[in-house]
Amino acid sequence: MLIFESPEDLGKACARQIVDLILENQKENKPTVLGLATGNTPIPVYRELKQLVQKEKIDLSQVITFNLDEYLGLPIDDPNSYHSFMFEQLFSDLLQTSNLDPRNIHIPNGYAKTERDLSSQELEALFIAFPNRIKNSPLSQEEELWILKQRADQYEHDISRLGPIDLQILGIGTNGHIGFAEPGFSFSQDTSLVQLTENTRRDNACVFNGEVPRFAITMGIGTILKAKKIYLLATGEKKREIIEKALQFPISPSIPATSLRMHPCVSFFLDEAICPRTP
Ligand code: PGA
Repeated sequence: MLIFESPEDLGKACARQIVDLILENQKENKPTVLGLATGNTPIPVYRELKQLVQKEKIDLSQVITFNLDEYLGLPIDDPNSYHSFMFEQLFSDLLQTSNLDPRNIHIPNGYAKTERDLSSQELEALFIAFPNRIKNSPLSQEEELWILKQRADQYEHDISRLGPIDLQILGIGTNGHIGFAEPGFSFSQDTSLVQLTENTRRDNACVFNGEVPRFAITMGIGTILKAKKIYLLATGEKKREIIEKALQFPISPSIPATSLRMHPCVSFFLDEAICPRTP
């Protein structure tokens, strides 16, 4: 457990670890696969990471990223999507200032309303699965769900193919979710479509312009636990209670973050608002 005076200090330390990992892997000519999170907590990490990459001219050509989750039903360029968040907080800058390859960025895509929203492989698979479908008609709910499930399976497959994830960054919800793996989610589940709890929708409403979607696509606990190393980040008093539970309550799907205690290499990055240092 690492405790920092402020979220900014936490961000600096975490970004340093990420860069050091990339440099270490580079020495052995190995790619670095990063699992990335959205939310307020990692923002200082991304701020510092952009600075370090620029200042130290870090080679990102071999860096591959996988984001944890995305809302269903939002076009990727919707200002509330996690795609937009990641490009605003990290990727747009890195793509301009470094040699990060845009093809190495992976974020689940939760939008499939028309044929234009599908890749050519997806379109082909759709017509095989639904042979009576009328070309160019909007996707029915059944077809949309089918495509989204295919995407979840493909995402898990891509992580296995390009992974394992070297370092997974996580935030935590006030209900103990990690990614959008909500309470009750089996620990063995991989990337899936999930229904968000009212608690999560309420927590996210403050940064969401409009109604928070009810469903999402997310890496499962099973996916997350396959990462070689995990950093769970939490800052601010609002997270104190759930961090105590994550660390002390019995390991159970009712608090998804307790699953992390089964992982051999996990660090909790906390600030003093959560864990005051004794003088
Ligand atoms: P936050 O979200 O960083 O905005 O608190 C974390 C989460 O819900 O996983």
